[in-house]
Amino acid sequence: MNSTLILDLIYLIGSVTFIMGLQMLSKPESARKGNLIAAVGMTIAILGTIFLRNSVAPVIYGLLFGAIAIGGIIGWMVAKKVKMTAMPQLVSLFNGMGGACAALISVIEFTPHIGNFKALITVMAGMVIGSVSFAGSMIAFLKLNGNMKKDLRLPMYNLINNLILLVILALACYVIYSASGTEHGEHLFRYALLTFALALFYGIMFVFPIGGADMPVVISLLNSFTGLAAAAGGFLYHNQVMLTGGIMVGSAGTLLTVAMCKGMNRSLTNVIFGAFGSGGATVTAGTGSPTGGSVKDISVSDTAILMNYCKKIIIVPGYGLAVAQAQHVMHELESLLEERGVDVKYAIHPVAGRMPGHMNVLLAESNVDYGKLVEMENINPEFETTDVVFVVGANDVVNPAAKTNPNSPIFGMPILEVEKAKSIIINKRSMNAGYAGIDNELFYNPKTSMLFGDAKKVITDLVAELKTM
Ligand code: TAP
Repeated sequence: MNSTLILDLIYLIGSVTFIMGLQMLSKPESARKGNLIAAVGMTIAILGTIFLRNSVAPVIYGLLFGAIAIGGIIGWMVAKKVKMTAMPQLVSLFNGMGGACAALISVIEFTPHIGNFKALITVMAGMVIGSVSFAGSMIAFLKLNGNMKKDLRLPMYNLINNLILLVILALACYVIYSASGTEHGEHLFRYALLTFALALFYGIMFVFPIGGADMPVVISLLNSFTGLAAAAGGFLYHNQVMLTGGIMVGSAGTLLTVAMCKGMNRSLTNVIFGAFGSGGATVTAGTGSPTGGSVKDISVSDTAILMNYCKKIIIVPGYGLAVAQAQHVMHELESLLEERGVDVKYAIHPVAGRMPGHMNVLLAESNVDYGKLVEMENINPEFETTDVVFVVGANDVVNPAAKTNPNSPIFGMPILEVEKAKSIIINKRSMNAGYAGIDNELFYNPKTSMLFGDAKKVITDLVAELKTM
């Protein structure tokens, strides 16, 4: 078998394992294995490319493996150390690296492909998309990491950004047109570099005005850009695995972006141009019920008594659970209640927390049985037959205004219908608003009792109290 055939076979294995891995990532039980399978397939594809594609000088092998070792060690250490709450910024950083790779490949490949119209299209596409993805991801990283507190919004920023984008597209078209009609277009490289620089600038300007809390949607969008940029590389090198991987990442990122927007009942244009979610979590609400109701407190011991004597409890986890890192003690509470014959389930809203699958990942970390995590559509009909709903650090995802108030920014967002349960206990630290920055009528519902305090501390006390009963 010649090396080209072996390489084709290797790329096929890489593509199939990548698709299998992606498929397995859709379920928590198989996600870890799926990730591993895709990684093994990619490793085989990388090694195949290094050893079978071109023969190179030994020093190049040294450089290649040196770079892989440095990148691998840094990536491994960062991924090992990262806290679950910092996962979105890590994803952003890694995504940015993918964009940078695609853009740099295009910079290197420009001159060798002068005179080749088709190749130049993929080169310039990879350069522009990869640069936007890299620069945008870096800004998203800085915002999520708390290094960039302010959302810089120039007057008429949407107009300015669109103008920059038009200039980039015009310049890219000029470069492709001019460089494809000549064999000696080396001087056009400087225009290609100008396009590259402008695309980096656009990536920064594109993400700058978007509110910090909207970053997960933006990261998912940039992720799909990186996929497209990698697919452009696949076209250029006739590399099936790069093409398949890029297209899969591109489409998965796009689908995830759409799913997140749907879960928040917002359009993508509203996320990108709406300047929404810029620090909503710090907005103070709770200045009183719009309908004049009052808030009722409950103590830890009264909550323990209520929970101890009921048959069915649904726990609604939200962003606050992640902030408090209360997932382990939450699992302890669930086990304790189950031992006493209480039926306990978790209601999972698609956009609870701040990243896709945030609650699933968090609860999986504390070994909660996956079967206990019930998606919104399936759990909503169950609230009517539930004795106690325990809302922990969730706010927007249980806000009835989404159904009842057409003027609310979250109107139309599907929510967990907890108000149908016999009694509702809400744990949070104060009357502060959540991400959307709005008051929540549920807090003033006569069936609701507020259990104020940090989730970890409150649930730990609750567990201790239950153990004395
Ligand atoms: P939020 O509506 O953001 O509410 C979280 C609540 O947790 C806050 O009201 C806060 O109140 C409380 N909290 C914070 N720290 C706490 C702690 N240590 N102990 C107890 N409570 C604590 O969260 P949610 O209900 O999960 O909704 C998610 C929101 O994020 C939605 O609006 C969604 O559209 C948006 N979003 C989601 C995503 C994804 S993909 N998940 C992406 C972007 C945006 P206190 O300050 O009073 O404690």
